[in-house]
Amino acid sequence: SKQEKLDLVARRVRAFQDFPKKGIFFRDICPVLKDPEALTATIDLFEEHVKQTCPDVDLIVGVDARGFLFGPLLSQRLGIGFVLVRKKGKLPGPTVSVSYSLEYGEAEAEVQEDAVSPGQKVVLIDDLLATGGTLLAAYELMKKQQAVVLGCLVLIELKALNGSRKLKNCNVFSLLQY
Ligand code: PRP
Ligand code: ADE
Repeated sequence: SKQEKLDLVARRVRAFQDFPKKGIFFRDICPVLKDPEALTATIDLFEEHVKQTCPDVDLIVGVDARGFLFGPLLSQRLGIGFVLVRKKGKLPGPTVSVSYSLEYGEAEAEVQEDAVSPGQKVVLIDDLLATGGTLLAAYELMKKQQAVVLGCLVLIELKALNGSRKLKNCNVFSLLQY
């Protein structure tokens, strides 16, 4: 059942105090990847959600770096392609970029100009939504490319940081909320 799958995922998320900076309570998804049942449950839940809410999606767009762990597994299940939003300076050829801030720093996100075509329907994926700065940057890159963003997927949503408010134009689906 859906609840059993959520439980498989939840019991593999752990937390570390004061990483990478003092005051940050870091949610670590590495044990989810190490447990094949939890990983399968994660992708099952995302797949079910996408098939129910936006079966016409053309591409999954994953955010550097932890969105890369889950995005290709999901896109392969759905029989569609995967696109990378990377930290600046990692992608060859013509790119578009945007700067953003996140819970514990600042960065610049970049996508290849030819990664998505105008009108293509995309779903964004990352491991975790904190302030929403990172997913908003990916959203803005997709809008620059005239893609249609159907929604965002995350394993974990840190509710107190109000990331979904920042992503007001984008439906956020999270498996676990803290
Ligand atoms: C983490 C996490 C999300 C982002 C969430 O990535 O994987 O991408 O922070 O924070 P926000 O909602 O406040 O923007 P990080 O930038 O640490 O990079 P990494 O995936 O390379 O570890
Ligand atoms: N990215 C931003 N905030 C985070 C947190 N508290 N735990 C893990 N990843 C994060």
